[in-house]
Amino acid sequence: MACDACGGLVDVRYDWDRIPVPTSLRDFEARWQNRRNPLDLSGVWRFREFLPFAPPEAIVTIGEGQTILQPCDSVGRYIGMKPGHLFLQYEGLNPSGSFKDNGMTAAATHARMVGAKTAACASTGNTSASLAIFASTTGLFRVVVFVGSGKIAFGKLAQALDYGALTLQIEGDFDEALARVREVCARLGIYLCNSVNPMRLEGQKTIMYRVLESLAWEPPDWIVVPGGNLGNSSAFGKAFYELEQLGLIDRIPRLAVINAEGSNTLYRVYDQQKIHWNEGRTDSSAIDLFYEQMDAEGRRAATLATAIEINRPVNLVKCLRALEICDGVVREVSDQEILDGKAQVGAGGLGCEPASGAAIAGAKRLRAEGVIAPDDRVVCILTGHELKDPNSTVAYHSGGGAGAATGKFANRPIVVENDIEKIVAALHKFV
Ligand code: F0G
Repeated sequence: MACDACGGLVDVRYDWDRIPVPTSLRDFEARWQNRRNPLDLSGVWRFREFLPFAPPEAIVTIGEGQTILQPCDSVGRYIGMKPGHLFLQYEGLNPSGSFKDNGMTAAATHARMVGAKTAACASTGNTSASLAIFASTTGLFRVVVFVGSGKIAFGKLAQALDYGALTLQIEGDFDEALARVREVCARLGIYLCNSVNPMRLEGQKTIMYRVLESLAWEPPDWIVVPGGNLGNSSAFGKAFYELEQLGLIDRIPRLAVINAEGSNTLYRVYDQQKIHWNEGRTDSSAIDLFYEQMDAEGRRAATLATAIEINRPVNLVKCLRALEICDGVVREVSDQEILDGKAQVGAGGLGCEPASGAAIAGAKRLRAEGVIAPDDRVVCILTGHELKDPNSTVAYHSGGGAGAATGKFANRPIVVENDIEKIVAALHKFV
């Protein structure tokens, strides 16, 4: 997955002159009538011309990517947008409950193409649930999951176990688990499914196609996404770059990548230290130095949004490219802002996991700074399902807070004696 010459991650490039390419995005709408074909049902593979690395008969699909974009005025109001200008893209609606299924269908397809018998990943929960569900539903390969000790959301661990994945809990955090799984895969010839795998990013590009499709192919002004290992942001930039290259869009949305304050490598590198893609001449020695200092100071990522608790984002350089393509910005937000943003999504929409709340908090921050205008069209990507991390949600609403965060928008449960009069009295305030 890494280049032997430079150590950088492999990137997928297509020679568009040698393959048939769509001439209009609207042509994809014809596929809506053909939903009995699993490839047209899939929200990933109905755009297969944009990830043309697999012959149709090799494609592994479980009905992923049937996700929705919803306008949400209550969250828009919270952020400071005019009505009708804020949209939520619910990737938690995927079969395993997160955006990962978009990339995993592509990785599973490639694994099948190369005849892999075993696949592995490191995970804080969503990647492992996604990889495991593709293995359990298709029976194509076995799965090994590496998790850092105490670093996996319970609902997600439950999925990996239920789907039959071999689960190794190792001491350390996500970065350490990822470093180990990369070594193990290289040594044992196991197929690696973290986002160092470029096929994952090919699948994740389709989130942007679906956003465009939902907006009648008119690009929004902003895409706001939480940043962890930076696979999504990298994929989104690549998607728009390719669409523009193919003459299918004439404007690229701006990209906002949102770090948690406690896990802010991209923010420090891009916004503070001004290390940029620089037309492919990224100063890699400056990045090395950044990591040396991080290690010397003993800085380790710490956020309630466990999915984005990552020290060394593997797709950092690809993300810098995406930021250049999309005239992007990076912000950091506190755990309190993240959980408040998440609570707003719960109160006014379908709900999301903490990491996704960062997108709301980041959009609010950018709106307050005047970087986002009230009448811009803004799409926040909700990467994971509400039910991933119920502990932090219940803690937030129960008034005990969650970690350092207080339940600013708490919907507290009321304790009532098992007595009809007391119950009616408690309900009087409500009904
Ligand atoms: N949001 C959710 C819900 C995630 O699960 C992850 C990553 C991210 C955002 C970060 O996305 O890497 O594209 O910037 N989860 C990994 C996992 C760590 O193991 O499931 P990115």
